[in-house]
Amino acid sequence: MTVTRAVAVGVGHYLPERVVENAEFEKTLDTSDEWIRSRSGIERRHFAAEGQLTSDLALEAAKMALKDAGLTASDLDAIVLATSTPDQTFPSTASKLQAALGMNTGFAFDIQAVCAGFIYAISTANALIVSGQAERVLVIGAETFSRIMDWSDRSTCVLFGDGAGALILEARQGNGDSADQGILSTDLQSDGRYNDLLYVDGGVSSTQTTGVLRMQGQEVFKHAVGKLAQTGEIALERAGVTVDDVTWVIPHQANLRIIKRTVAKMGLTMDRVVVTVQDHGNTSAASIPLALSVAYQRGQIKRGDLLLMEGIGGGLAWGAATLRW
Ligand code: UT7
Repeated sequence: MTVTRAVAVGVGHYLPERVVENAEFEKTLDTSDEWIRSRSGIERRHFAAEGQLTSDLALEAAKMALKDAGLTASDLDAIVLATSTPDQTFPSTASKLQAALGMNTGFAFDIQAVCAGFIYAISTANALIVSGQAERVLVIGAETFSRIMDWSDRSTCVLFGDGAGALILEARQGNGDSADQGILSTDLQSDGRYNDLLYVDGGVSSTQTTGVLRMQGQEVFKHAVGKLAQTGEIALERAGVTVDDVTWVIPHQANLRIIKRTVAKMGLTMDRVVVTVQDHGNTSAASIPLALSVAYQRGQIKRGDLLLMEGIGGGLAWGAATLRW
Protein backbone atom coordinates (compact mmCIF):
# COMPACT_ATOMS: atom_id res chain seq x y z
CA MET A 1 0.00 0.00 0.00
CA THR A 2 1.37 3.40 -0.95
CA VAL A 3 1.29 6.07 1.76
CA THR A 4 2.44 9.67 1.99
CA ARG A 5 5.50 10.17 4.21
CA ALA A 6 7.11 13.39 5.44
CA VAL A 7 10.73 12.89 4.39
CA ALA A 8 13.68 14.98 5.65
CA VAL A 9 15.34 16.76 2.73
CA GLY A 10 17.36 19.51 4.42
CA VAL A 11 18.75 20.40 7.83
CA GLY A 12 20.49 23.44 9.30
CA HIS A 13 21.29 25.33 12.48
CA TYR A 14 22.59 28.59 13.82
CA LEU A 15 24.38 29.53 17.03
CA PRO A 16 25.01 33.16 18.04
CA GLU A 17 28.66 34.20 18.02
CA ARG A 18 29.06 34.89 21.73
CA VAL A 19 30.20 31.82 23.66
CA VAL A 20 29.94 31.92 27.45
CA GLU A 21 32.05 29.40 29.38
CA ASN A 22 30.90 28.14 32.79
CA ALA A 23 33.76 30.00 34.47
CA GLU A 24 32.17 33.35 33.52
CA PHE A 25 29.34 32.71 36.00
CA GLU A 26 31.89 32.33 38.83
CA LYS A 27 32.44 36.11 38.65
CA THR A 28 28.87 37.00 39.59
CA LEU A 29 27.37 33.93 41.29
CA ASP A 30 28.18 31.47 44.05
CA THR A 31 28.75 28.68 41.53
CA SER A 32 31.60 26.82 39.85
CA ASP A 33 32.51 25.24 36.54
CA GLU A 34 32.81 21.95 38.45
CA TRP A 35 29.22 22.15 39.81
CA ILE A 36 27.65 23.06 36.46
CA ARG A 37 29.66 20.41 34.59
CA SER A 38 29.05 17.58 37.05
CA ARG A 39 25.32 18.30 37.66
CA SER A 40 24.29 19.10 34.08
CA GLY A 41 27.07 18.20 31.65
CA ILE A 42 27.07 21.79 30.38
CA GLU A 43 30.45 23.43 29.68
CA ARG A 44 29.47 26.45 27.58
CA ARG A 45 26.50 28.02 25.79
CA HIS A 46 25.87 30.72 23.18
CA PHE A 47 24.05 33.97 23.91
CA ALA A 48 22.43 36.17 21.30
CA ALA A 49 23.88 39.66 20.82
CA GLU A 50 21.91 42.70 21.91
CA GLY A 51 19.19 43.29 19.35
CA GLN A 52 19.55 39.79 17.85
CA LEU A 53 16.06 38.28 17.82
CA THR A 54 14.71 34.74 17.79
CA SER A 55 13.62 35.30 14.17
CA ASP A 56 17.19 36.32 13.27
CA LEU A 57 18.50 33.00 14.62
CA ALA A 58 15.70 31.13 12.86
CA LEU A 59 16.50 32.87 9.57
CA GLU A 60 20.13 31.67 9.57
CA ALA A 61 19.11 28.09 10.42
CA ALA A 62 16.42 28.19 7.70
CA LYS A 63 18.86 29.45 5.06
CA MET A 64 21.27 26.62 5.88
CA ALA A 65 18.49 24.01 5.67
CA LEU A 66 17.23 25.42 2.34
CA LYS A 67 20.76 25.34 0.95
CA ASP A 68 21.21 21.78 2.16
CA ALA A 69 17.94 20.78 0.43
CA GLY A 70 18.79 22.67 -2.75
CA LEU A 71 15.54 24.65 -2.40
CA THR A 72 14.46 28.28 -2.19
CA ALA A 73 11.85 29.78 0.14
CA SER A 74 9.29 29.87 -2.68
CA ASP A 75 9.43 26.05 -2.78
CA LEU A 76 7.95 25.92 0.75
CA ASP A 77 4.23 25.62 1.53
CA ALA A 78 4.44 26.24 5.25
CA ILE A 79 6.63 27.20 8.22
CA VAL A 80 6.00 25.69 11.62
CA LEU A 81 8.19 27.37 14.22
CA ALA A 82 8.49 26.21 17.82
CA THR A 83 9.49 28.85 20.34
CA SER A 84 8.73 30.09 23.85
CA THR A 85 10.78 33.23 23.31
CA PRO A 86 9.02 34.94 20.36
CA ASP A 87 10.18 38.32 19.03
CA GLN A 88 6.83 39.83 19.99
CA THR A 89 3.59 38.65 21.60
CA PHE A 90 2.21 38.74 18.07
CA PRO A 91 2.55 38.41 15.11
CA SER A 92 4.07 34.95 15.15
CA THR A 93 7.84 34.64 14.85
CA ALA A 94 7.09 32.23 11.99
CA SER A 95 5.40 35.00 9.99
CA LYS A 96 8.39 37.29 10.62
CA LEU A 97 10.64 34.53 9.34
CA GLN A 98 8.35 34.07 6.33
CA ALA A 99 8.81 37.75 5.44
CA ALA A 100 12.57 37.64 6.06
CA LEU A 101 12.88 34.63 3.74
CA GLY A 102 10.90 36.44 1.03
CA MET A 103 8.28 33.69 1.05
CA ASN A 104 5.08 35.38 -0.09
CA THR A 105 2.80 32.36 -0.37
CA GLY A 106 1.74 29.52 1.92
CA PHE A 107 1.30 29.92 5.66
CA ALA A 108 3.38 30.23 8.82
CA PHE A 109 2.60 29.83 12.51
CA ASP A 110 4.23 29.29 15.90
CA ILE A 111 3.94 26.37 18.29
CA GLN A 112 4.55 26.76 22.00
CA ALA A 113 5.36 23.58 23.89
CA VAL A 114 8.59 24.81 25.52
CA CYS A 115 11.34 22.16 25.40
CA ALA A 116 9.01 19.68 23.68
CA GLY A 117 8.26 22.33 21.05
CA PHE A 118 10.23 20.77 18.22
CA ILE A 119 8.56 17.38 18.70
CA TYR A 120 5.14 19.09 18.64
CA ALA A 121 6.21 21.05 15.54
CA ILE A 122 7.38 18.04 13.51
CA SER A 123 4.30 16.11 14.56
CA THR A 124 2.15 19.00 13.28
CA ALA A 125 4.17 19.32 10.06
CA ASN A 126 3.86 15.57 9.55
CA ALA A 127 0.08 15.81 9.95
CA LEU A 128 -0.07 18.68 7.41
CA ILE A 129 1.91 16.64 4.90
CA VAL A 130 0.17 13.31 5.43
CA SER A 131 -3.27 14.98 5.16
CA GLY A 132 -2.28 16.69 1.91
CA GLN A 133 -2.47 20.27 3.24
CA ALA A 134 1.18 20.98 2.48
CA GLU A 135 3.92 19.33 0.43
CA ARG A 136 7.00 21.01 1.85
CA VAL A 137 7.22 22.31 5.40
CA LEU A 138 10.07 24.13 7.09
CA VAL A 139 10.13 23.10 10.75
CA ILE A 140 12.15 25.26 13.12
CA GLY A 141 13.02 25.36 16.79
CA ALA A 142 14.45 28.77 17.74
CA GLU A 143 15.02 30.34 21.13
CA THR A 144 16.62 33.24 22.97
CA PHE A 145 16.26 31.88 26.51
CA SER A 146 18.95 34.31 27.67
CA ARG A 147 16.15 36.95 27.54
CA ILE A 148 14.09 35.23 30.25
CA MET A 149 16.80 34.38 32.79
CA ASP A 150 16.94 35.66 36.36
CA TRP A 151 20.69 36.33 36.44
CA SER A 152 20.69 36.16 40.25
CA ASP A 153 19.22 32.62 40.29
CA ARG A 154 22.16 30.23 40.04
CA SER A 155 19.85 27.21 39.89
CA THR A 156 18.54 28.22 36.44
CA CYS A 157 20.62 30.89 34.66
CA VAL A 158 23.67 28.64 34.19
CA LEU A 159 21.63 26.01 32.34
CA PHE A 160 20.17 27.71 29.28
CA GLY A 161 21.44 29.02 25.94
CA ASP A 162 20.30 30.48 22.61
CA GLY A 163 20.20 28.90 19.15
CA ALA A 164 18.09 27.59 16.30
CA GLY A 165 17.73 24.40 14.29
CA ALA A 166 15.75 23.72 11.11
CA LEU A 167 14.47 20.70 9.22
CA ILE A 168 12.66 20.63 5.88
CA LEU A 169 10.09 17.89 5.39
CA GLU A 170 8.75 16.94 1.98
CA ALA A 171 5.87 14.68 0.86
CA ARG A 172 7.08 11.48 -0.77
CA GLN A 173 5.42 8.14 -1.35
CA GLY A 174 6.35 5.16 0.81
CA ASN A 175 5.25 1.54 1.15
CA GLY A 176 3.69 2.02 4.58
CA ASP A 177 6.24 -0.07 6.43
CA SER A 178 9.07 0.71 8.82
CA ALA A 179 11.65 0.63 6.01
CA ASP A 180 10.13 3.82 4.54
CA GLN A 181 12.09 7.04 4.60
CA GLY A 182 10.49 9.85 6.61
CA ILE A 183 8.56 10.26 9.83
CA LEU A 184 7.31 6.84 10.90
CA SER A 185 5.57 7.78 14.14
CA THR A 186 5.01 10.50 16.73
CA ASP A 187 3.76 10.60 20.31
CA LEU A 188 2.63 13.77 22.09
CA GLN A 189 1.69 14.05 25.75
CA SER A 190 1.16 16.76 28.35
CA ASP A 191 -0.04 17.04 31.95
CA GLY A 192 -1.02 20.53 33.07
CA ARG A 193 -1.11 19.52 36.73
CA TYR A 194 2.65 20.09 36.66
CA ASN A 195 2.43 23.69 35.39
CA ASP A 196 4.23 25.03 38.43
CA LEU A 197 7.38 22.89 38.08
CA LEU A 198 8.72 24.95 35.18
CA TYR A 199 7.23 28.29 34.13
CA VAL A 200 7.87 31.95 33.42
CA ASP A 201 6.51 34.24 36.14
CA GLY A 202 5.02 36.80 33.77
CA GLY A 203 2.80 37.05 30.74
CA VAL A 204 0.42 39.14 28.68
CA SER A 205 -2.85 38.41 30.48
CA SER A 206 -1.39 38.02 33.97
CA THR A 207 1.33 40.59 34.69
CA GLN A 208 1.76 42.38 31.35
CA THR A 209 5.49 41.70 31.73
CA THR A 210 7.71 39.10 30.10
CA GLY A 211 8.76 37.46 33.36
CA VAL A 212 11.69 35.17 34.10
CA LEU A 213 12.07 31.40 34.16
CA ARG A 214 11.40 29.52 37.39
CA MET A 215 12.12 25.81 37.80
CA GLN A 216 11.93 23.13 40.46
CA GLY A 217 14.86 21.33 38.86
CA GLN A 218 14.86 18.18 40.96
CA GLU A 219 11.13 17.61 40.41
CA VAL A 220 11.44 18.11 36.64
CA PHE A 221 14.40 15.72 36.67
CA LYS A 222 12.31 12.99 38.32
CA HIS A 223 9.52 13.29 35.74
CA ALA A 224 11.91 13.58 32.81
CA VAL A 225 13.57 10.16 32.93
CA GLY A 226 10.39 8.05 33.21
CA LYS A 227 8.33 10.12 30.79
CA LEU A 228 11.03 10.31 28.12
CA ALA A 229 11.65 6.56 28.25
CA GLN A 230 7.91 5.88 28.03
CA THR A 231 7.21 8.25 25.11
CA GLY A 232 10.26 6.89 23.29
CA GLU A 233 8.99 3.34 23.66
CA ILE A 234 5.51 4.34 22.42
CA ALA A 235 6.99 6.05 19.34
CA LEU A 236 9.11 2.97 18.54
CA GLU A 237 6.15 0.63 18.93
CA ARG A 238 3.97 2.82 16.68
CA ALA A 239 6.69 2.77 14.04
CA GLY A 240 6.85 -1.02 14.20
CA VAL A 241 10.49 -1.06 15.31
CA THR A 242 12.42 -1.89 18.48
CA VAL A 243 15.28 -0.20 20.37
CA ASP A 244 17.68 -2.46 18.48
CA ASP A 245 16.66 -0.79 15.21
CA VAL A 246 17.53 2.72 16.45
CA THR A 247 20.68 4.17 14.87
CA TRP A 248 20.68 7.45 16.81
CA VAL A 249 18.74 8.82 19.74
CA ILE A 250 18.56 12.61 19.51
CA PRO A 251 17.26 13.66 22.91
CA HIS A 252 16.42 17.11 24.26
CA GLN A 253 19.70 18.47 25.58
CA ALA A 254 18.90 19.66 29.11
CA ASN A 255 21.07 17.51 31.33
CA LEU A 256 23.59 14.77 30.54
CA ARG A 257 22.49 12.80 33.62
CA ILE A 258 18.87 12.78 32.36
CA ILE A 259 20.03 11.63 28.93
CA LYS A 260 22.16 8.81 30.41
CA ARG A 261 19.44 7.56 32.74
CA THR A 262 16.74 7.67 30.04
CA VAL A 263 18.87 5.80 27.57
CA ALA A 264 19.78 3.16 30.17
CA LYS A 265 16.10 2.76 31.12
CA MET A 266 15.29 2.08 27.46
CA GLY A 267 18.07 -0.51 27.19
CA LEU A 268 20.19 1.62 24.85
CA THR A 269 23.86 2.53 25.09
CA MET A 270 25.42 6.02 24.94
CA ASP A 271 27.37 5.25 21.75
CA ARG A 272 24.06 5.61 19.89
CA VAL A 273 23.14 8.97 21.43
CA VAL A 274 23.85 12.43 19.99
CA VAL A 275 25.09 14.68 22.81
CA THR A 276 25.64 18.42 22.34
CA VAL A 277 24.56 19.70 25.77
CA GLN A 278 28.20 20.43 26.69
CA ASP A 279 28.45 23.07 23.95
CA HIS A 280 24.92 24.48 23.73
CA GLY A 281 23.36 24.19 27.19
CA ASN A 282 19.59 23.85 27.19
CA THR A 283 18.22 25.70 24.15
CA SER A 284 14.64 24.51 24.74
CA ALA A 285 12.77 24.00 21.42
CA ALA A 286 16.00 24.51 19.47
CA SER A 287 17.91 21.75 21.23
CA ILE A 288 16.79 18.69 19.23
CA PRO A 289 17.12 20.21 15.71
CA LEU A 290 20.42 21.79 16.75
CA ALA A 291 21.75 18.42 17.88
CA LEU A 292 20.38 16.80 14.71
CA SER A 293 22.06 19.36 12.46
CA VAL A 294 25.38 19.17 14.31
CA ALA A 295 25.38 15.36 14.07
CA TYR A 296 24.52 15.63 10.35
CA GLN A 297 27.39 18.07 9.82
CA ARG A 298 29.74 15.66 11.60
CA GLY A 299 28.71 13.01 9.05
CA GLN A 300 27.13 10.82 11.75
CA ILE A 301 23.72 10.55 10.09
CA LYS A 302 23.44 8.48 6.92
CA ARG A 303 20.58 7.66 4.60
CA GLY A 304 18.48 4.84 6.02
CA ASP A 305 19.42 5.59 9.65
CA LEU A 306 16.56 5.39 12.15
CA LEU A 307 16.42 8.42 14.46
CA LEU A 308 14.50 8.60 17.72
CA MET A 309 13.94 12.19 18.90
CA GLU A 310 12.42 12.96 22.29
CA GLY A 311 11.92 15.93 24.56
CA ILE A 312 10.22 17.19 27.72
CA GLY A 313 9.68 20.61 29.24
CA GLY A 314 7.30 23.12 30.78
CA GLY A 315 3.65 22.13 30.84
CA LEU A 316 4.74 19.49 31.51
CA ALA A 317 4.72 18.65 27.81
CA TRP A 318 6.66 15.81 26.26
CA GLY A 319 6.84 13.58 23.24
CA ALA A 320 8.87 11.60 20.75
CA ALA A 321 9.17 10.97 17.02
CA THR A 322 10.87 8.39 14.86
CA LEU A 323 12.35 9.45 11.54
CA ARG A 324 14.09 7.30 8.97
CA TRP A 325 16.71 9.48 7.26
O1 UT7 B 1 14.45 21.62 29.58
C1 UT7 B 1 13.34 21.45 30.37
C2 UT7 B 1 13.52 20.38 31.30
N1 UT7 B 1 14.45 20.76 32.34
C3 UT7 B 1 15.24 19.86 32.84
O2 UT7 B 1 15.23 18.76 32.38
C4 UT7 B 1 16.06 20.22 34.04
C5 UT7 B 1 15.92 19.14 35.06
N2 UT7 B 1 16.70 19.33 36.27
C6 UT7 B 1 18.05 19.33 36.27
O3 UT7 B 1 18.69 19.26 35.26
C7 UT7 B 1 18.74 19.35 37.62
O4 UT7 B 1 17.78 19.18 38.63
C8 UT7 B 1 19.56 20.65 37.89
C9 UT7 B 1 20.79 20.67 37.01
C10 UT7 B 1 18.66 21.85 37.62
C11 UT7 B 1 20.01 20.70 39.36
O5 UT7 B 1 20.74 19.52 39.69
P1 UT7 B 1 20.40 18.73 41.04
O6 UT7 B 1 21.40 17.68 41.16
O7 UT7 B 1 18.95 18.34 40.97
O8 UT7 B 1 20.69 19.83 42.13
P2 UT7 B 1 19.69 20.39 43.24
O9 UT7 B 1 18.67 21.28 42.64
O10 UT7 B 1 19.23 19.27 44.11
O11 UT7 B 1 20.68 21.29 44.08
C12 UT7 B 1 21.76 20.71 44.83
C13 UT7 B 1 22.50 21.81 45.54
C14 UT7 B 1 21.58 22.77 46.30
O12 UT7 B 1 22.26 23.13 47.49
P3 UT7 B 1 21.88 22.42 48.90
O13 UT7 B 1 20.44 22.73 49.11
O14 UT7 B 1 22.15 20.96 48.69
O15 UT7 B 1 22.81 23.08 49.85
C15 UT7 B 1 21.49 23.96 45.42
O16 UT7 B 1 21.25 25.17 46.13
O17 UT7 B 1 23.19 22.62 44.59
C16 UT7 B 1 22.88 24.00 44.81
N3 UT7 B 1 22.95 24.70 43.53
C17 UT7 B 1 24.11 25.17 43.02
N4 UT7 B 1 25.36 25.18 43.49
C18 UT7 B 1 26.31 25.72 42.72
C19 UT7 B 1 21.95 24.94 42.64
N5 UT7 B 1 22.44 25.58 41.56
C20 UT7 B 1 23.77 25.73 41.77
C21 UT7 B 1 24.81 26.30 41.02
N6 UT7 B 1 26.07 26.28 41.53
N7 UT7 B 1 24.61 26.85 39.80
